Amino acid sequence: MSRLISKGSVELRLPDKTISLPVHQGTEGECAIDISALRRETGLITYDPGFVNTGACASDITFVDGEKGILRHRGYDIEDLAENCLFLEVAYLLVHNKLPNKKEYQAFSRLMNHHSMIHEDMRNFFNNYPEGAHPMAVLSAMVVSLSSFYPEIEREEGHEDLDITVTRLLSKLRTIAAFSYKKSIGEPFVYPSHKYTYCENFLNMMFASPVNDYHPDPVAVRALNLYLVLHADHEQNCSTSVVRFVGSAGSNLYASIAAGICALWGPLHGGANEAVIRMLESIRVNGGNVDRAIERAKSRDPRFRLMGFGHRVYKTYDPRARIAKRACMQLLEKFGVGNDPLLEIALQLEEKALKDEYFVSRNLYPNVDFYTGIAYRAMGIPENMFTVLFALGRLPGWIAHWLEQHSSEQKIGRPRQIYTGETRRPFVPMDERP
Ligand code: ACO
Repeated sequence: MSRLISKGSVELRLPDKTISLPVHQGTEGECAIDISALRRETGLITYDPGFVNTGACASDITFVDGEKGILRHRGYDIEDLAENCLFLEVAYLLVHNKLPNKKEYQAFSRLMNHHSMIHEDMRNFFNNYPEGAHPMAVLSAMVVSLSSFYPEIEREEGHEDLDITVTRLLSKLRTIAAFSYKKSIGEPFVYPSHKYTYCENFLNMMFASPVNDYHPDPVAVRALNLYLVLHADHEQNCSTSVVRFVGSAGSNLYASIAAGICALWGPLHGGANEAVIRMLESIRVNGGNVDRAIERAKSRDPRFRLMGFGHRVYKTYDPRARIAKRACMQLLEKFGVGNDPLLEIALQLEEKALKDEYFVSRNLYPNVDFYTGIAYRAMGIPENMFTVLFALGRLPGWIAHWLEQHSSEQKIGRPRQIYTGETRRPFVPMDERP
């Protein structure tokens, strides 16, 4: 449960009265003015488009210090988790607030295997998507459908074991993701297998076929594990806030996460990894002129931003991007594709942008999405699956936040607005309207 510390109060002086607003502090020192009584006491609301300054909740899960470039899950530095952990360990950590011991990990993995299949009736859904359907659309629709196949989570009485709910979703999302890819290329589905680990299973379901006896490459398996860990949670980002928001209405876990998947899809959020590759590719086919791309990004052309650059919270190098970049270079080297022209363009873009006044003065650095797409390409993963991989990685975070939100006494999410439309006007019957 959240441990808010009282830090006294601040005064808000208005022309006709002065009110006192409590200040709360979190365990890492961040302070917030509690305005929950503001409207009741003054008739005023706050105005904060994009919730840039608004703490929507107190949370025990992830700490980000955007000025110092710190990211910790349940107190553990992302560098330590990325270096030492399997994705499932991090998933367990996010949900249970502890790293699993051997026994807990084995039990968790067993459940993952046990719940990896999807209902055959659900498998049939895939047949009805048009060719070329984006896997994110399929993913979201399939996840919300899970609530009709596994309604146990809705029932108050005899709540099922938390690990079952969690592993069912984690395991099935991986199967759905791989099936949606197979559907998009018109190949038969490959079922999950107990003999593989989480990441091996995913790669096998993606790349094995009746004519290809695929063996997951350990280098690709390690890289995939690392990228999933890097995406596992990031406190109140857009998609996680959506999951919490939908959950605040009492909607079930599957419905809330399906909404989060839709939010993640956007190019300003998780969809950026796909957009980065499209941008790099377009620079390449237009002669590789990096300076032109930088100038265009600076020109405030609303149709062009340097994708994979900038972040709402990080005002320094995104710690995930640093790890993702290092891993990407190692991966390309090991696969012998170190001379990927897109990597060359990305490195040049980064170097130039980090010296350019526009990017420096706005604290715009590469974010986690800047190098991940290049690494996924090297692993043979197609572009339209990049954001799906982000969703697979982010799933434990979404689940942890939904559970946290569900177990606290939080109110339904319902912001206010400043109305700026027409004021009252007389009604005009249809035949009198101009
Ligand atoms: N290229 C060019 N200029 C940029 C970029 C960029 N990528 N990002 C921000 N800016 C500029 C803005 O134009 C603005 O300039 P101004 O102050 O002169 O008006 C300033 O930097 C601040 O930008 P905002 O849009 O106000 O910052 P915000 O915090 O709202 O947006 C966001 C953050 C959405 C990530 C933004 O940086 C962006 O669009 N980046 C590109 C898309 C991207 O990579 N998204 C992935 C984010 S990470 C993730 O979701 C996993």
